[in-house]
Amino acid sequence: MKTIVLAYHNVGCAGIKALVENGFDITAVFTHKDNAKENIWFNSVAEYAARLNIPVFVPEDINHPLWVQRIREMAPDIIFSFYYRNMVGSPILEIPLKGCLNLHGSFLPEYRGRCPVNWAIINGEKETGATLHYMTPRPDDGDIVCQEKIKIADNDTSESLHGKMVKTASNMLNKILPLIKEGRAPSVPQEHSRATYFGGRNPNDGEIDWSKSASEIKNLIRAVSKPYPGAFSFAGDRKCLFWSVKQILIKAAVPMPGTVISTDPFVIATGRGALQVDLCQPDDGVYMSGVQLARELGIDAGMRFGRDIKKYLEAERKKKVLILGVDGFIGNALSERLLASGKYEVHGMDLRSGSIERFLKNPDFHFYEGDISIHREWIKYHVKKCDIIIPLVAIATPIEYTRNPLKVFELDFEENLKIVRYCVQYGKRILFPSTSEVYGMCEEDEFDEDNSRLVLGPVRKQRWIYSCCKQLIDRVIWAYGQSKGLKFTLFRPFNWVGPRLDTLNSARIGSSRVITQLILNLVEGSPIKLVDGGNQKRCFTDVADGVECLYRIIENKGGLCDGQIINIGNPENDLSIKELANMLVEKFSRHSLSSIFPVFAGFREVESKTYYGPGYEDIKHRKPSIRNAGRLLDWFPKTGLEQSIEQTLDFFLHEAVESGEFNDVMCNPEKFGRHGVDEGKVVSLSLIAN
Ligand code: UGA
Repeated sequence: MKTIVLAYHNVGCAGIKALVENGFDITAVFTHKDNAKENIWFNSVAEYAARLNIPVFVPEDINHPLWVQRIREMAPDIIFSFYYRNMVGSPILEIPLKGCLNLHGSFLPEYRGRCPVNWAIINGEKETGATLHYMTPRPDDGDIVCQEKIKIADNDTSESLHGKMVKTASNMLNKILPLIKEGRAPSVPQEHSRATYFGGRNPNDGEIDWSKSASEIKNLIRAVSKPYPGAFSFAGDRKCLFWSVKQILIKAAVPMPGTVISTDPFVIATGRGALQVDLCQPDDGVYMSGVQLARELGIDAGMRFGRDIKKYLEAERKKKVLILGVDGFIGNALSERLLASGKYEVHGMDLRSGSIERFLKNPDFHFYEGDISIHREWIKYHVKKCDIIIPLVAIATPIEYTRNPLKVFELDFEENLKIVRYCVQYGKRILFPSTSEVYGMCEEDEFDEDNSRLVLGPVRKQRWIYSCCKQLIDRVIWAYGQSKGLKFTLFRPFNWVGPRLDTLNSARIGSSRVITQLILNLVEGSPIKLVDGGNQKRCFTDVADGVECLYRIIENKGGLCDGQIINIGNPENDLSIKELANMLVEKFSRHSLSSIFPVFAGFREVESKTYYGPGYEDIKHRKPSIRNAGRLLDWFPKTGLEQSIEQTLDFFLHEAVESGEFNDVMCNPEKFGRHGVDEGKVVSLSLIAN
C-alpha cells in the first residue's frame, strides 16, 4: 500500500518501523527541522528514514500549494501522521483514497490538543492512552480506528511516560496495520461531548505556585522534569530548578506556602502538605541534593520561595506611558482609562490642555505644553525615561490631506519617524497608531491586517498622502522590529466616535471627521452635506470600546501583541453616511436641548470635488476584520451605534450650549427659526431616507 508518513519524535520513528515491518510501501517521510532553541532529546525521524533509504522532506508549510501538488503527484493510498506538529489542511486530507490517520498520545476524546503526556501528569491522571484516528481539519476529533490504555505510575515522569507511549503505539500499530491493509479496520465516532482540550506549553509554565497542594506541585515537577525545562521557583532573585521531590507528612501546622521548614532534610511548605526536595539545581549551577542547595545558597528555615523578587517589584511598579498628543481624542480618553486602572503614570505632551484639564491635579498625570516638532529634547528624554511610547500627534482629517499634503508628510511621517528612531535607540516599546486609511480602496469585504491589499489611487489624488505616509511608517516600524528588535504593536482605529472627537470649532473650518461636521450643521442650522450622495459606508466604533482594546494592548499579557497589527473597529456598525445622517437628525429632533438650536435645515448632496477639492478620492466601504483583536486580546466591541451616536451628540450639544453662543436663542427663541437654509438646494428628509 503506497504510504506517505508525516512524523517527528520517538513515536514517529516507532510508527515508521511498524509500517515497514508490516509491508507498507513508504514513498516519502515529511518531518520537521529541529529547533535550535529546543532540547532535542528524542530520536531523529529524518535520520531514521534516511537510513532506510526513504526520501525525507521538511516543508516550512506542508499546506503550501507546491507541497500539496507534490503529495498529490506521489499518489499515496494512505497517509499516516505520528507526532507531526502542524495541522494538515483539507487539500492534503482529501488526497489518499484510504484516508489520513493520526496517532495521538492520549485516550481520545480526552486530552485533545498539544502536550497530552505532560498535561496528563500535571493533572494527576492515573491512566492515559494512545489513539489512532482519522484526521479532519480540526485537531484530534476524527473517528477512532483503535486505542489502548496506559497506566501512569506515581513516579512516572513525562520521559518515562513517553517510553510507555512508544511501546504501546508500536504494539497497537502491529495489531491494527494488517487490518488496515485488508480494509477491515474499524472506525468509531468520538463522543465529542466528553472531549477535553489542552494547549501548548512553554518553559515559563514551569513556575511553581506554592499555594497549590504538595501533590499538585509534585505532579508539575515530574511533568516538566528532564528532558523538559524543569519546574522552578525563586529564593530572592536566585532561580532554583526542582527535579525530584517527594511528599512528606508534617505533624505540626504547616507555615505559609513556599516557606522552608527545614534544610536537612530540605523541606518546603505548600498550600496543603509539604515536599522534600531530593534533586535540584541553581539555574547557573550543577545538579545537587536539596541539602547542598540550601547550604550553598545560604537558605535557612523560615525563608520563603516564591516569585522572582526583582520581577515582582518590576511588575508592581507603575509603568510610565508617554503619550504625545495627549489632549487629542484618543489621547485624553486613553489617559482616563490608564489613570483609572491605578497601574500607570501618564506623561503627556500637547499644544493645549482643554480636554485633559480634568486630570491635571492627578499625581500620576504629568503634562507638558509643547510641540513635537520643536521640543525634541523633551521627547527624547521622556522616551528614555518611559516604558511605553504612544505617538498620537498627526493630521487626521481628510480635508487637510488635500489642503495641506506637505504638512501631513512633515508631521505624520517625518516627525513621527524621529520618535520611532528614539524608541529603537533606547529599546522602548512603541504602540503606533496606524490607520484604517492604509487599506485605501481595498475591495475585499473585510480588511484583514495580515493579508489584505493596500490600494491607493494616483499621485495627483492627494487624499492618499496620509494613507501612504502611515503605510510607509508601518513598514519602517516592521523593518525595525525585524532588524533591530524594536518592540512594537501597530493599531488601526476604524472611524472611532465619541465625546471630544475633534471640536465644533475645527468643524467650522471643515477640519473634522464626519460626525462632528454633521453635528455642527445641526447646531448651526446649516444643511447636512452628503458628499457624492452619502452612499459610502464606514464602520463607526465607540471610543470606549476602542480605548479598552488599546488598554489591553498596553497591558500586553504574555507579550502576545508584540510585532502584531491590530484593527480596532466595530464591523457590526456598518452603515452609509446617509444612514448616519438620518440617525443623527432623528436623535437630534428628540434631544432635550434641540429647541435651543435652529430648525434642521435638510440635506444637500454635493460633489466631492466641490467639498474637498480635486485631490480627493473616496473609499466606498471600510469594514475591519477583528479576528486579531479577538484572538490576541479577547476583545470584542460592545457598544451599539445608537448609543455611541446619542453620547457623541449629547456631548457636543452641551458643549455648544456651554460655549454661550446660544444664550440669545435661549432668551429670544422666536427670533431664530429656519436659520441659514437655502430652501432651493435642500433635499428633503423623506427623499433620502433608505
Ligand atoms: C477618516 C480619517 O481620514 C482618518 O484620520 C481616520 O483614520 C479615519 O477616518 C478613521 O477614523 O478610521 P474618513 O472616514 O474618510 O477617514 O473621514 P470622515 O471625515 O469621517 O468622512 C467619512 C465620510 O463622510 C467620507 O466619505 C466623507 O466624504 C463623508 N462626509 C464628510 C460627508 O458626507 N459630509 C460631511 O460633511 C463630511
